[in-house]
Amino acid sequence: MSAVLDSALSADAPSAAAAAPQAFDIRPLGGALGAEVLGLDLSRPVSEDDFRRIHRAHLDHHVLVFRDQRITPAEQVAFSRRFGPLQIHVLKNFQLAGHPEILVVSNILDAAGQPIGLGDAGHYWHSDLSYKDKPSLGSLLHAQELPAEGGDTLFANQHAAYDALPDDLKARIDGLRAEHSYLAKYEELRARSPWRPKLTQAQIDEVAPAVHPVVRTHPGNGRKALFVSEHFTTRIVGLPEAESRALLDELFARSVRPEFVYRHAWRPHDMVFWDNRSVQHLAAGTPDHLRRKLYRTTVEGS
Ligand code: SIN
Repeated sequence: MSAVLDSALSADAPSAAAAAPQAFDIRPLGGALGAEVLGLDLSRPVSEDDFRRIHRAHLDHHVLVFRDQRITPAEQVAFSRRFGPLQIHVLKNFQLAGHPEILVVSNILDAAGQPIGLGDAGHYWHSDLSYKDKPSLGSLLHAQELPAEGGDTLFANQHAAYDALPDDLKARIDGLRAEHSYLAKYEELRARSPWRPKLTQAQIDEVAPAVHPVVRTHPGNGRKALFVSEHFTTRIVGLPEAESRALLDELFARSVRPEFVYRHAWRPHDMVFWDNRSVQHLAAGTPDHLRRKLYRTTVEGS
């Protein structure tokens, strides 16, 4: 077992020691990535052995789909915390009341016509919070209300994307670093979605750009993964602007080829846990007249 697996298991798990084991299956979805977790009830305490199995499956499959989870926001927060500290999103107006760790992802308007959540989260391919010095380990998104059509989420395997690069491109990006900024597309999104708030100076300071390797070695499975995205990556450090832009555009296109992508069609009570170190994701969009609401927790990485 890796040191990383060990350290995650030491995370806060108050009732794990006394928890009874549960009978559940982990069934690979086939294709680029992903596995379904069937028969596990996250409203009950999860034993250390069961947690260890889930953690291993997350490292192996990158996206876990926990089916039929009738859990409260507090239970989502408690389960998420077992993987590490939770990160609070800079758009605090979209926190779930009483649960600052939960970001509401929704296109629904309240009675006063105000959005209850971040309606265009995931409009561009990205890895959550890559603009932070400590980007996210993974995110857990729990379905609350789903549209009759649309609303899918796509996940692209960044280990596979890296492995498929031609050798000369691998050599070219070896050791390069890139800047990630929350502000990169913020005004563009705000022009499309005017309900996005104008950021205060304090919020802008909170999301100062961060620099990360273009290729990261995953701390949990030791594999290399591409770590750039069209949403947040602004430039390759040290390259002239035109060269940086051309290289990023090539990497963006190579990172989300159809053969690396799993498309998740949500079912009621799904909770999906993806690894932000090994996948990028994209929200495919929901027709305007249909309602969609999900709760997201985001686990801090390294
Ligand atoms: C996200 O990018 O966190 C949200 C994805 C989605 O709404 O499908």
